[in-house]
Amino acid sequence: MREQLEALQKEAQADLSACGSLTALNELKVKYLGKKGPLTAALRGLSGLPAEERPRFGQAVNSVRARIESLLAQKEEEISRKELKERLLREKADITLPGRRPPRGRLHPVTLVMDRIKSIFVRMGFAVREGPEIENDYYNFELLNLPKDHPARDAQDTFYITGEYLLRTHTSPVQARVMRGNEPGAPIRMIAPGKVYRCDYDATHSPMFHQVEGLLVDRDVGLSDLKGTLELFIREMFGPETKVRLRPSYFPFTEPSAEVDISCVICGGQGCRVCKNSGWLEILGSGVVHPRVLEMSGYDSKKMSGFAFGMGVERIAMLVYGIDDLRLFFENDLRFIRQFEREAVL
Ligand code: PHE
Repeated sequence: MREQLEALQKEAQADLSACGSLTALNELKVKYLGKKGPLTAALRGLSGLPAEERPRFGQAVNSVRARIESLLAQKEEEISRKELKERLLREKADITLPGRRPPRGRLHPVTLVMDRIKSIFVRMGFAVREGPEIENDYYNFELLNLPKDHPARDAQDTFYITGEYLLRTHTSPVQARVMRGNEPGAPIRMIAPGKVYRCDYDATHSPMFHQVEGLLVDRDVGLSDLKGTLELFIREMFGPETKVRLRPSYFPFTEPSAEVDISCVICGGQGCRVCKNSGWLEILGSGVVHPRVLEMSGYDSKKMSGFAFGMGVERIAMLVYGIDDLRLFFENDLRFIRQFEREAVL
C-alpha cells in the first residue's frame, strides 16, 4: 500500500513537470484528485482494512493528496505567469507606426457645382431661400400663371401625389412663396436651390434633378438687368471668355421670356459634337416677371417689376466637368464620384 502511494506521488510529479498548459493542468487535477481518481478510491478502500491500520493509512493518503494539491497550485501559478508574459509580448503595440487614416467622404459633383452657383449669387447680394419639394397645384402652377387648362402644363410630366399635391416640377413656386411671405411690396433678391421632379429618364434627364431659381423684384427692373446679372454669373462659372446669347422663348410666368445660351465650353464656339455644331449651349430659362405673377402674389405691377431665371444644376455640372451622361450622377459608382475635388475643372 505504502509503495503504491509513493509510486502515485512520483507519477503525479512527473506528469506535472511535463505539463505546459492550463488545460492540461486541469486534466491532471481531475485525473489525480477527481471522484474517479486513485486517491478517492484509496480512501474508499479504508473500510476493508483492519481497524488499527486505518488511521495511519488514512493519514498517508491525505498527505499524498495535500502534496499533489500544492504541486498543482504551484504549477498553475507558474503556467499563468508564463502565459501572461507571452501574451504581453505578442500584444506589444508599436507606437511608432504611422496612424491609419479614417476614410473621408467627398462632396458630390452636383453639390460642388451647386455651392459655386450659390456663392456667385450670394456675392451679388442674393439671399438663399427654400421651399417644399411636395408642393400644391396652386403654387407649382396657378400662381405662375398656369391655370388648370393651360396647355403649357403638358410640357411637364408631373408626379402627382393627390389631385392637389405633387412633387414640384420646378423651383419657380418658391418665387410665389417668397413674394407672399414678404412684407407687401418689399424688394426681393433671392435664389432658391433645390430638388425638382419630372417623369423623364434618359441620358440628359433624370426623374429627380436640381435647379437654382432666381428672382429679383424692385423698381425699374428690366431685361438689361437680367442680362447683366446672368453675364456676370456665367463668366464667373465658365470663364471670362464665355459669350452669352439670349434667345426668345416662352414661359407663362415671364414676358418677355428668353432661353440663355453660352458659347460652347468644349469647342469655344467653333462647332462640335456637344453643341451639335451650333457653337452654342442652352443653360437656362429666364425672363421678365409677368405682371400677373406679381399681382397674384401681392405686388403692384405698375410700381414694381422683376426678372427671374431657372437653371438645371446637373446640366451645368455636365458642362463644367465634361460629363456626357447625366445618369452617372445618380448611379453612385465610387470610381466616378471620387474624381471630383472641391474646385471644378474649368
Ligand atoms: N421654371 C422654368 C423651368 O423649369 C425655368 C424658368 C424659371 C424660366 C424662371 C423662367 C423664369 O423650365
